[in-house]
Amino acid sequence: MSKRTKWDTKGDLDESKNLPIYQHKATLQQAVKDNSFLVVTGETGSGKTTQLPQYLHQAGFWSNGKIGITQPRRVAAITVAQRVSQEMHCSLGREVGYQVRFDDCTTQDTVVKYMTDGCLLREILADPVLSHCVLCALLPDKASKGRCVPLKVVVMSATLETDKLSVFLGGCPVFTIPGRTFPVTSKFSCAIGPKDTESSVYVKEVVKVALDVHTSEMAGDILVFLTGQSEIEKACDMLYEKAESIDYRYDVQDHKVEGLLILPLYGSMPTDQQKQIFQPPPPGIRKCVVATNIAATSLTINGIKYIVDSGFVKQLNHNSRVGMDILEVVPISKSEALQRAGRAGRTSAGKCFRIYSPAFWEKCMPEYTVPEIQRTSLTAVILTLKCLGVHDVIRFPYLDRPEERFILEALKQLYQCDAIDRRGKVTRLGELMVEFPLPPGLTRALLQAASLGCEDLLLPVAAMLSVENIFIRPGHPEKQKEADKKHRQLGVQAGSCNDFTMLLSVFEKCKASDAPSAWCKDNYIHWRALKSAFSVETQLREILLRLQKKRDFPMEKFDGNKSELFRRCLCTGYFTNVARRYGLFKTKSHPHRSLFDQEAQLDWVIFHDLLVTSRIYIRTVCPIRYDWVKDLLPKLHEVDVYELSSVAREEVTDEEVAKWVTKEAAKRQTEGSAEDVF
Ligand code: CDP
Repeated sequence: MSKRTKWDTKGDLDESKNLPIYQHKATLQQAVKDNSFLVVTGETGSGKTTQLPQYLHQAGFWSNGKIGITQPRRVAAITVAQRVSQEMHCSLGREVGYQVRFDDCTTQDTVVKYMTDGCLLREILADPVLSHCVLCALLPDKASKGRCVPLKVVVMSATLETDKLSVFLGGCPVFTIPGRTFPVTSKFSCAIGPKDTESSVYVKEVVKVALDVHTSEMAGDILVFLTGQSEIEKACDMLYEKAESIDYRYDVQDHKVEGLLILPLYGSMPTDQQKQIFQPPPPGIRKCVVATNIAATSLTINGIKYIVDSGFVKQLNHNSRVGMDILEVVPISKSEALQRAGRAGRTSAGKCFRIYSPAFWEKCMPEYTVPEIQRTSLTAVILTLKCLGVHDVIRFPYLDRPEERFILEALKQLYQCDAIDRRGKVTRLGELMVEFPLPPGLTRALLQAASLGCEDLLLPVAAMLSVENIFIRPGHPEKQKEADKKHRQLGVQAGSCNDFTMLLSVFEKCKASDAPSAWCKDNYIHWRALKSAFSVETQLREILLRLQKKRDFPMEKFDGNKSELFRRCLCTGYFTNVARRYGLFKTKSHPHRSLFDQEAQLDWVIFHDLLVTSRIYIRTVCPIRYDWVKDLLPKLHEVDVYELSSVAREEVTDEEVAKWVTKEAAKRQTEGSAEDVF
């Protein structure tokens, strides 16, 4: 029997008393009382994220303000909040809630709030003193010295970087939760060598190994690490198909095992499905979770005894030559491989099956994973810092200092989209841009459209680009052909070979349909993604309306036709992503291809992003005329980045920062705090 249906069993909530952190409850409550800053460290799964906020709640900390907990991933913020609300016997969104980009599940009653780092940054922007927040797992900047309300900061970390964290927080105490881990034996295989980066190879191999484990190992759940949604779905389909033909009387070593439950886990999955991951499987059934890297550090699944490690991760890396973040499949680091293996040894001894060879380990895997701030675009971070009044973004005390050239690159991009001026000062447009949780180029295009009165063209597009992929591509070859045909028809109906118009058209058609979910099914479109896009569009519209009410919102005039207007707006934000047939504008060496090879007749195009697999693709493409970008292109080269950082190099003293924070706080109090939807 193989299963992937829902079932109803409640996790044992009393389990929390067995977590390693439980014995230290009183000491931890006291330590937070006694210290403004505290570092708490302990193995992943020891109970830091779910329990410590509850201990602080029980100790009454919330009476002074909220208990805010940041999480690096939205899926972690949501699932942990669900769990904690269950443990605290309240409905989600009341005492315990979460807030992630485009999804706010909190009310006035919420006192324990899980959120992503980005959301906390937005709260700081709206209320620099964080007057309502007592606990944040985000590292404070020096400005915290000037806060009027006693802000308590607890940094929870599973890594060994506690000394660094403590030094960063002025030498604060470190509380270590003693861990109990069991040995995990790891086995290499020879399937993947240094040259095998094709996804079809490693997907097939992890499926084979997971099935071997299922048939030949004793009871215990399996966790498979893969790269992303499409690989995970493919692997789950293959596992499901193969598991169907297992004869449990003869093929399976452990006769207590009578079935396999296959569960995918990736960031953009619907929340109710994510919940299932944490529930114990029915008796006799072995659970097999096929997950992205979120199951390595952000989420802990109980009962895992076997790990199947693909050795790869899909990660955003900034390529400063191209000037943008590129989604790439890369080998994991050795420390990441150890972390993955460790997931099997939480409750008893475990086994880790690595599908790669020792040569792959030696030659392809770096020692450590480079922190995200050092490998992704810094434009949003730098703009936020500048809007917070931190001018010297080069000497800002980052915990993991990004390379100076990346900071300069971000300043250049912010200048290119008019968010800062030549001296590095935030412009009026930059102040508007920081309000949108979108990439700067897209925000710039949206604001351009709004200033020309045609935001209805760009808002749906911005929403569609903020949700998971909307096009369904089934695994079955016949169905695949049918889906491609339907998508091509949608393109033709949209009336131009422009992927942005196609997104707009799909959005509008679905919204206008009487039976939107049936329309999606018929056209091989993810209804769930479209539903999210509708909600995101509404939220973006609300932000825009709020900003438009302010006096100095820019307004311009335009007399061309609608299609040209749309594409010209896109050019304002995307002129940095210009490609010309037979080579990218800024990266001549890369070949390019879009959704349906439709650029065959195109000359100049702009595109939304780049994807690097075994080939390089530009995605979401729009044909343009050279004329429209001609005047913008010199901007790519006209400034000297050091000129932009000249303000950044000015000394800003702690007193100045403190003065600024107090001034802002006073201003907010008189204005009343703006409602923040993030
Ligand atoms: O933060 P840390 O990694 O130390 O641990 P945690 O996330 O607080 O996890 C403690 C326990 O809660 C683990 O046994 C998890 O499996 C469980 N948990 C859960 O059952 N459901 C969730 N949504 C999150 C955690």
